Amino acid sequence: MTAPRPIRFIHQGQLRAISGLPPTTTVLQYLREHVRCAGTKEGCAEGDCGACTVLVGELDATGGAVELRNVNACIQFLPMLDGKALLTVEDLGTSADPNPVQQALVDCHGSQCGFCTPGFAMTMQAIYERHQAAGTRPTRQDLADDLSGNLCRCTGYRPILDAGERMFDAPVRTIARQPIVEALRALRDDPPLHYEAPSRDGTPQRVFAPRELDELADLRAALPQARLVAGATDVGLWVNKQHRDLGDVILTGRVDALRRIDAPGDVLRLGAAVPLEDAWSALTERVPALRELWLRFASPPVRHAGTLGGNIANGSPIGDGAPALIALGARLVLRRGPAQRTLPLEDFYLDYMKNALEPGEFIEAIEVPPLPPGTQLRGYKIAKRYDSDISAVCAVLGVRLENGVVREARLAFGGMAAIVKRAPRAEAALVGRAWDEAAALAAADALREDFTPMTDLRASADYRQRAAANLIRRFWLETRVDAPVAAAAASVWQAVNLQRSVA
Ligand code: FAD
Ligand code: FES
Ligand code: FES
Repeated sequence: MTAPRPIRFIHQGQLRAISGLPPTTTVLQYLREHVRCAGTKEGCAEGDCGACTVLVGELDATGGAVELRNVNACIQFLPMLDGKALLTVEDLGTSADPNPVQQALVDCHGSQCGFCTPGFAMTMQAIYERHQAAGTRPTRQDLADDLSGNLCRCTGYRPILDAGERMFDAPVRTIARQPIVEALRALRDDPPLHYEAPSRDGTPQRVFAPRELDELADLRAALPQARLVAGATDVGLWVNKQHRDLGDVILTGRVDALRRIDAPGDVLRLGAAVPLEDAWSALTERVPALRELWLRFASPPVRHAGTLGGNIANGSPIGDGAPALIALGARLVLRRGPAQRTLPLEDFYLDYMKNALEPGEFIEAIEVPPLPPGTQLRGYKIAKRYDSDISAVCAVLGVRLENGVVREARLAFGGMAAIVKRAPRAEAALVGRAWDEAAALAAADALREDFTPMTDLRASADYRQRAAANLIRRFWLETRVDAPVAAAAASVWQAVNLQRSVA
């Protein structure tokens, strides 16, 4: 264990060294309350509205360039900034000298009351930077997807999307990255973070951010009561909304080995701290049918901070990662001290918010085997909104066919029970039968024996039961051997999106 030291990061071109502030001080609180950078706004304090969007810069794997990603400052804890750069709306242009993003928002009337505007400007800056670097331009639909984590109550979005297109018409003016790269390189020699300060309620609290996997394993084993924090997109809400005390915290985000995506053999190996955006990108490269689930998982700022390991460990019964990974037959690599074991993900969840992790154990990686030949798989999310909403039901359904006969079925559902799980009776109703309407209806019928869903504010039990059964029918319609229906024709959202993209 290294000696305690301040949190060090780059802000407004300066090195900031923070000590004494509670470890769960959010980046937003730091900005607004401690350094009076009040351009960044607070709307919901739970990652939903995007008013607090900032850019966080990290050196890439080569150490020669900086990656800038938009995240929600309201659910990022200050120690998570250690070794990184923070950019806010104050780092863009000024009213006397607006940059292309700001000028386009003005020209297109993309701001009315203005409360959401700094957040939109930061997300749009991230879009601008990414496309300028790649030499591409986003479509209107790309812009809508990228802006799905920013809410505006005034403009009706059309002017903002117009601005998103218009900002590429001006002479190029991107963020000057070289000074950030050099400043970040200077921070690389800092020892791993060990920060100590009074918590929000005054009790002593420690934060550790190891960089080596073995170091993390040793710390976890030595401090089994400490709270692991990856992206804090779940944990941040426990603090902001439930005022929970986290005790000692171990951050996983600086362990390079946990942020790696490998493909040994045919297996896709996703480190537990790989950001959701990168994990879904790798998954959907292999299984394009999951693309809609990716785009509808939270929003880009949440997916940039949050991790797949955090999603799986959190184990919400309405989480969207587990249905996909269970249907794909994923395994977890678990680590405790020097010992490693693997467990099929479907055996990981024991009961509501209870999993098979032993004290001192953590998720090291998620291994996803390739889809067996002949497999048809689709992912469906039923929620009240298309963008950035929590599932009422999430279904990822797979069948392996041989000559039109179902040889294997993996039907995984979220929102139907206290945990995400497969539907054994519905699966049994399919195996050995021709993949036809009668089989699909039999499986849909058998779902009633698999699940007794609950009624809550998202959906009634009856709605969930019917929606899940209909998803099996829809799955069959989209994958039937003769005349499958195109996914676009089976999705009401496609029609909504079509209207939205021409609006
Ligand atoms: P954290 O918040 O850092 O941690 C979550 C839990 O995992 C904690 O218990 C932590 O101790 C534990 N943990 C983290 N890493 C490990 C590890 N390596 N080993 C063991 N335990 C670990 N989720 C969905 O499924 N679908 C959605 O559409 C969705 N939308 C969201 C929208 C918003 C606005 C927000 C704020 C959240 C949303 N979420 C959604 C929930 C959340 O984003 C995900 O669950 C996310 O993947 C959590 O990852 P994290 O890295 O932020 O986890
Ligand atoms: Fe709403 Fe942060 S304040 S997302
Ligand atoms: Fe008022 Fe967007 S301009 S909320």
